Amino acid sequence: MAPEQSWWQTAVVYQVYIRSFADGNGDGIGDIEGLRAKLAYLGRLGVDAIWINPWYPSPMADAGYDVSDYRDIEPSYGTLDEAQSLIAEAHDLGIRVILDIVPNHTSDQHVWFKAALADDPGARDRYHFTSGRGDDGSEPPNNWQSIFGGPAWTRVADGSWYLHLFAPEQPDLNWDHPEVRAEFEDVLSFWFERGVDGFRIDVAHGLVKVPGLPDGVDPSVDAVPHSMLVFGDQHPAWDQDGVHEVYRGWRAVADRYTPERIFIAEAWVSSNERLARYLRPDELHTAFQFDFLRSPWRAEKLREVIDDAIGSAASVGAPPTWVLSNHDVTRTVTRFSRSQPDQLVETDWERARWAREEPDHELGRKRARAAALVQLALPGTAYVYQGEELALEEIEDVPDDLRQDPTWVQSGYTDVGRDGCRIPLPWKDTAPPYGFAGDPAAVTWLPQPDHWAPHSVEAQERDSASTLSLYRDALELRPTLWRDAGDLKWLTAPDGVVAFERGASQCWVNISTADVDLPHGAVVVLASVPGVETTLPVDTAVWVRTE
Ligand code: GLC
Ligand code: CA
Repeated sequence: MAPEQSWWQTAVVYQVYIRSFADGNGDGIGDIEGLRAKLAYLGRLGVDAIWINPWYPSPMADAGYDVSDYRDIEPSYGTLDEAQSLIAEAHDLGIRVILDIVPNHTSDQHVWFKAALADDPGARDRYHFTSGRGDDGSEPPNNWQSIFGGPAWTRVADGSWYLHLFAPEQPDLNWDHPEVRAEFEDVLSFWFERGVDGFRIDVAHGLVKVPGLPDGVDPSVDAVPHSMLVFGDQHPAWDQDGVHEVYRGWRAVADRYTPERIFIAEAWVSSNERLARYLRPDELHTAFQFDFLRSPWRAEKLREVIDDAIGSAASVGAPPTWVLSNHDVTRTVTRFSRSQPDQLVETDWERARWAREEPDHELGRKRARAAALVQLALPGTAYVYQGEELALEEIEDVPDDLRQDPTWVQSGYTDVGRDGCRIPLPWKDTAPPYGFAGDPAAVTWLPQPDHWAPHSVEAQERDSASTLSLYRDALELRPTLWRDAGDLKWLTAPDGVVAFERGASQCWVNISTADVDLPHGAVVVLASVPGVETTLPVDTAVWVRTE
């Protein structure tokens, strides 16, 4: 295809949730040494880049998304020197390294916030401090709710309030303050100088708020679970036009470097059109499109979501992006292991509803494998969340006293939150900790289930029909079959079957309730279930070449 194509436009990016990836020193917490030791695994898997969740010093009120120092490494994860070695070793394997930047809020232990609490002159202006409502100011300044539950405001000793769209330990920065802007541009350079290839931008749609912080007008705000999806662009905290100027500044910083440095936006906005605004030529390079992970396992929805994602990305000349899951949502296997809604899934609501229905994980696994082949055949960038290649399921019965996600406490113990998709990976075909930590006596920061031995890397490496083998095969074939294959064309297919062609390759997936015949002359190159030749079973996908 066009020679001006950049790696990130077609890459497979593997998301490393560092806390749960691999533990190098036996304290039960994943770390940089653990990740370095597994780089060969990622090389063998065939990914083009890794995105590492925040690894900066953090009190861990929100698993590292509460950053206390943007220019260092969390001590329990390692050191700057180790980070430097990791970046170099990844590059030696041809793997790019993307970090996670958290600009919407700092930790309450950041020097800036400590200065604000100490009431140093001017220090509060870097955050959103204001007085409360009511005669004695004891009511929060507005009706905004925290994403994790409860009011988005906390009162400090002298009676004023500060804003936190997430946990109270994550005070929101004031992006109208020039020092805030300058600081983050400098942090970007700090890491670019160290060879980092790009950043995933956390809550990219949240930085700029409507001046004066008015009440949200959505009357349902207090009645519904508080997900970023629900708020969309209807709320004065999200997706404000002023945010785009911030990213123009960031782009100018990135453009000073070669090779190319890139940005990926995490922006939960109300439509792909709104999302496309972040991807204008002088702004960010790419953005997660989340409708794919919100799509139920239904043919018509899948087709709709794919068309919509491709269309809106094309409108700004960006590649579409495909995400099946990440560290914030229910794992794919579990999402597909229960009855499927008619509409796109609102993650928080679904979590509550699903808890009441028995999951069929074998069914979920079959569908997740099929979904992976669809994902990896589509044009653009694919993100693989660690453990997807092992078809791990959500662990829904983490004991209450071991839960770590602030959502659990802040929701008044009604939403179990995201711990279930963050369980440390099983590497060895043994018992917990399954080689996650070298020391078999290590206690992992979240408990692993006792039935994961067959899902371990070691067990799956022995089995050519395992999900790990399927991912390896798919990633090996992807460059030849799909990477430069060009535009997607839908094929005529029976009801409930999704089929598309790109160049000389086709992808077929059967989401109906009966087997279907594959087209005459089709040669199956890869199937999500072994042994498929001329008939495509239910919940199965294939890649075929037409002669
Ligand atoms: C993003 C992260 C999530 C975190 C939140 C607050 O949505 O993906 O894990 O809790 O931002 O930083
Ligand atoms: Ca460790």
